[in-house]
Parts: sequence; C-alpha cells; structure tokens
Amino acid sequence: MKIRRCAVLYIEPREELGIDLAALFRGAGTLAATMRWIAMAPHLDAEVELSDAQLLAVGGLGQSVWTERAASEERFGQATIAQLLALGLVLSDAPEAAAMRERDEKLRLQHWSPLSLLAHTFSRWSDMRAGAGVQFSTYQELVALSGPPPPSTVGHGADGQAIPLPAPLGGQLDATMFARYTGRNFDPRAVLALDVVARLLQRTFGAQELREVGPGAHALKKLSPSAGGLHPIEAYVLVQRVDGVAPGLYHYHPVAHTLEPMTTMDGAQARVLALQFVADQQWFADAPMLVVMAARVLRNFWKYRNHPKAYKAISLDAGHLSQTFYLLAAEAGMPAFVTAAINERAIERALALDHLGDAVVAICGCGPAAATRTTIELRYGDPDPGSLPPPAAKSAGR
Ligand SMILES: Cc1cc2nc3c(=O)[nH]c(=O)nc-3n(C[C@H](O)[C@H](O)[C@H](O)COP(=O)(O)O)c2cc1C
Repeated sequence: MKIRRCAVLYIEPREELGIDLAALFRGAGTLAATMRWIAMAPHLDAEVELSDAQLLAVGGLGQSVWTERAASEERFGQATIAQLLALGLVLSDAPEAAAMRERDEKLRLQHWSPLSLLAHTFSRWSDMRAGAGVQFSTYQELVALSGPPPPSTVGHGADGQAIPLPAPLGGQLDATMFARYTGRNFDPRAVLALDVVARLLQRTFGAQELREVGPGAHALKKLSPSAGGLHPIEAYVLVQRVDGVAPGLYHYHPVAHTLEPMTTMDGAQARVLALQFVADQQWFADAPMLVVMAARVLRNFWKYRNHPKAYKAISLDAGHLSQTFYLLAAEAGMPAFVTAAINERAIERALALDHLGDAVVAICGCGPAAATRTTIELRYGDPDPGSLPPPAAKSAGR
C-alpha cells in the first residue's frame, strides 16, 4: 500500500489558559497554560488535535509523491501511521480509503492558494446567532464599550500645502447614489413586483453579453467589474415575497435570465432560513428577497492558479456586485443591504454546495422600508445627529 500526506495542512501550536487549582491553594499565580498541536486540513473541514508522535510523522511525509506505507511505518511506527490514516491527514491508495482520497483530490483540482483555503474554510460559521432580541449596536453603545474609534480621517503633507478642489459638479448618478442606504427596517408584509426583481437580478447578476473568447471559452459582460473578467459569483435567490414566485431557493441563471427552482417551501420556512442565513440579524430577515453570492472558485482559479491574491479578488467581485445591487434598489425606491456575517455552512447545506469548490461570500437583499424605524440606519440627510453634514455641490444635479 502507498501513502502520502494531504495537500493542504497547517499546524497551530495552540495555548489554552486555565485555572491552576493547585497553584491557587499554594497562594501562587493561578493561570496555567497548556499547549496543544492543532492540525487544520481544509479537506477535513474540522480541526484535529495531534500527539507529538503524529506531528513528527506528518512533518516527515510529503504531499506529492506516493511512498510505501511500510517505509513510513518503519520511521514513525505502525500505530502512528494508522492513526494519521484514520484521521484523514495521510491518504492511502487502498480502495477502502477512496472517499478521503477523493476529497483531497477534489481540493487539489481547485487550484486554491493554500493560505486562502485555510482562511476560507476555518472562518465559515455554522450556527452563529446575533442573539434573540439583540438590536444592531449604535455608535454610542460601541463607544461606551470600546472607547472612541480611530479618527474618521487622516491628514498628510505639510500644513497649508493641500490643494483646494472645486465643489463636485452634480451628475446623473447623484440622485441614486444619495438615495442609497443600508436598510434595517424592511416592511415585513411588502411583496416585490416581478418586473422590479427581474431588473435587479438582470442588471446586477445577469450577462449583458456572452462572448466566445477562444475555443470552448466564453466570457460574460456584466455591469460590474470582475477580476480577469471571469465573473465567478453565482446568485442564489431566497424568495420570501415576490409576486408570482413561490417562496424558496432559486439559482438565477445569468444568461437565460431565469430563476431555477432548487427548493420550494412555505413563507414561514423561508423566513426561518433567511434568519439562519444572516446569523439571526432579524433586521435583515424581513427583506422580501435575499441573494446569496457564492463563487465557483475554479472559474477564477483557472486563470489565477494557486494565486495568493485570487481569494481577495473574489471578495472584491462580491463587493462590486453588491454596490450595483444597492444602486438598483435605490433607483427602485428601496433600501438594500449586504452582510458577510452569515452562516456559510448552513447556506452550503441548504444549497448543496461544497466549500472546496463553491465559496459562499456574502448575502445582499432589499425591499421597501417599513413605516417606522426600530433599528439604526444611516440615511443621507437624516435628522439623526449621527448623520453627515450635507456636502457642498455646485449644481443641483440630484
Ligand atoms: C462588507 C460589508 C459587510 C456588512 N455587514 C453588515 C452586517 O453584518 N450587519 C449590518 O447591519 N450591516 C452590515 N453592513 C452595512 C454597513 O454597516 C453599512 O454599509 C454602513 O453602516 C454604512 O451605512 P450605509 O450603507 O447606509 O451608507 C455591511 C457592509 C459591508 C460593505
């Protein structure tokens, strides 16, 4: 039998602090530190504690070349190699080990930069909750908790050297840009018209052109920029209240401009899912439509193979899409939101996505505002003393 180590493995020497009761009774210092070796392998999707012997063995096995198991057993001991095989940190060519081997092979085929995959895998939430009844923290509450934040701006250059600029001219985008804000008080009964949804989805996530850029290679032209022009982000729509569309999960097809049903459910089930997806931020769960942005990473990594910047570029793609979504919602007279505080693992389960190939990045959503506000928002020109003073503008283009 031949073996090799899994492709991506990071090991953390983790310190855990506890109370040393014996020291306490002796009247000495009471904090005791214990050290543990924690292995993080993204194909396993869980942390594993290693013994010193296991640590030594994984450090001595390569991840590329398959070698005879007997040779490693001679070096590191039969029991240690058997334990590492059982943990899935070492893989074998035996038929009974196929499932774990295939998982590792799938990981290799995605061309993730190892550090990015580590960060992605182990930053995903499973069942995070903002806390039932907890409201969005106001700036005042945050200042009371952590003191004032760093200054809102920074100055550079010598005093008196700054070049004064003319006031910004008004422009066509102003009305929409000034109307944009993050909504946290959605009308829980509002139903979105289908033509509003169609414009939002098509202009944000839809392809405006499909170009054949080479043999078997197609590029989409969208209204937001995307690293390498690859547009890896797919839109999965959680419908709560859209005219003529049953509540449920859909994939938005960017070329066909269709909603492909994945799971239908009743309104109450959709609401439970919405709340779970946004980690119990109830101020977002009333939105009639939420959109999960999940990247097919290989679409990007096909060009940016094992690239340390590629994951960052995918996050930036999602940011651009969300701003386009915000602006279209504002144009339609609605607030929108985007959040990265989401339960990625729950979303993956609901959409049958595998985090090795499909990276859930963020959720955006929108809907009409409720008549009354209970959660903080930052609407432009708001009488709230926390809002910004109006900027000087040369002409009233907004
Ligand atoms: C990447 C990103 C993540 C965000 N996450 C949250 C969030 O988890 N919860 C929330 O209430 N707002 C979230 N927001 C919204 C910001 O709080 C909001 O943009 C900011 O307060 C400024 O308000 P405005 O969008 O109305 O100008 C997020 C915004 C961005 C860009």
